[in-house]
Amino acid sequence: MSDKRVLLIIGGGIAAYKSLELIRLLAKAGVKSRAILTKAGAEFVTPLSVGSLTQDKVYQDLFNLTDESEMGHIELSRSADLIVVAPATADLIAKAAHGLANDLASTTLLATDTPVLMAPAMNVRMWQHAATQRNVARLQADGVHFVGPDEGEMACGEYGPGRMSEPQAILGAIKTLLADGPLKGKRALVTAGPTVEPIDPVRFISNRSSGKQGYAIAAALAELGADVTLVSGPTNLPAPLGVRRVSVETAHQMLEASEASLPLDVAVMVAAVADWRPAEAADAKLKKDKGGVQAISLVENPDILATLSKPGKKRPKLIVGFAAETDHVEEHARAKIAKKGCDWIVANDVSGDVMGGDNNQVLLITKDGSEAWPHMAKDAVAKRLAIEIAQALAGRSALKK
Ligand code: CTP
Repeated sequence: MSDKRVLLIIGGGIAAYKSLELIRLLAKAGVKSRAILTKAGAEFVTPLSVGSLTQDKVYQDLFNLTDESEMGHIELSRSADLIVVAPATADLIAKAAHGLANDLASTTLLATDTPVLMAPAMNVRMWQHAATQRNVARLQADGVHFVGPDEGEMACGEYGPGRMSEPQAILGAIKTLLADGPLKGKRALVTAGPTVEPIDPVRFISNRSSGKQGYAIAAALAELGADVTLVSGPTNLPAPLGVRRVSVETAHQMLEASEASLPLDVAVMVAAVADWRPAEAADAKLKKDKGGVQAISLVENPDILATLSKPGKKRPKLIVGFAAETDHVEEHARAKIAKKGCDWIVANDVSGDVMGGDNNQVLLITKDGSEAWPHMAKDAVAKRLAIEIAQALAGRSALKK
């Protein structure tokens, strides 16, 4: 970490005092930090205490001629490997989500192409407000990373999510984002969760997929340094750190978002895509007194795995499918490799409680080998698969033939 640099933006919240500890921890880890202190941030911590810890100038004012001649705000935003906003107040988050640039902090965030990590801190109601949630979702889709907020007692006396993560947790997230893992520079797509196919505006066809395995794989690939897009159907899971999540509902939307993520080095298709959708989705709610629904006719959905696997210049180098089977697991999975044109299949036996559960037992099948993995946590399956993927992209396969 010793050659890494962080630009820390300290917003105006009571949690600003924790940022001083964060600077200390960064220095201990060998990471150099430089700070921007917003006007509101300076109400909570002084430039003198921030500057003594960073051992650098503290940047405060957008229209300071000396600052601009020494280091313009554009250069400042590019002088780091990572920008960390802690505390990220509701105001800073809203400004960044809307691309406002009316002070040094927001201008820096707009002027940069450096990765950004935000550690939100605010009152629970402000965090839960639809506007803040919309802004956070917008920033996540733009590729901004989040750590926290934590749940607990707040300075204002209320209880709930909104507390800024502890400095140690923020440091952990920073280390993950700064790490030069074996997948650094590689582009990955993971599809996850169910798809939802509308019958009418209020009813739909779907399945029991929780998204846990796909989310764990997206997180594991990001931990190894990959640039990960997670195309997800509706789940209750937070976006993993370092992952760009694109939320979709239908199989068609999932296909479109997956194709938009090309070019890719690796695609891991974990989503439980609904195989069929109602031939027609009614525009208005179907009513019982109008004769109800006699039958729903279904049409087959596009196969996303097969579409991406078609030979051609745009085909990802490595394509991994999942197969949910209840019997003849290896035989059915091998048939799926041939039918869909992918490179590997991770086959799991879903006759037990795999769907929605925390554990999984899988068989990794490639064109020329297979390996049965022990029963383990979905997180562990994800980490092992990410390592296999890194080996394969480096031209080394750990798989026994
Ligand atoms: N898949 C996909 N698009 C679909 C259906 C499936 O991308 N429309 C992907 C899944 O994400 C998974 C793999 O294909 O990686 C296998 O899906 P599965 O449902 O097990 O297989 P099916 O092709 O649906 O075959 P069957 O239901 O007959 O087992």
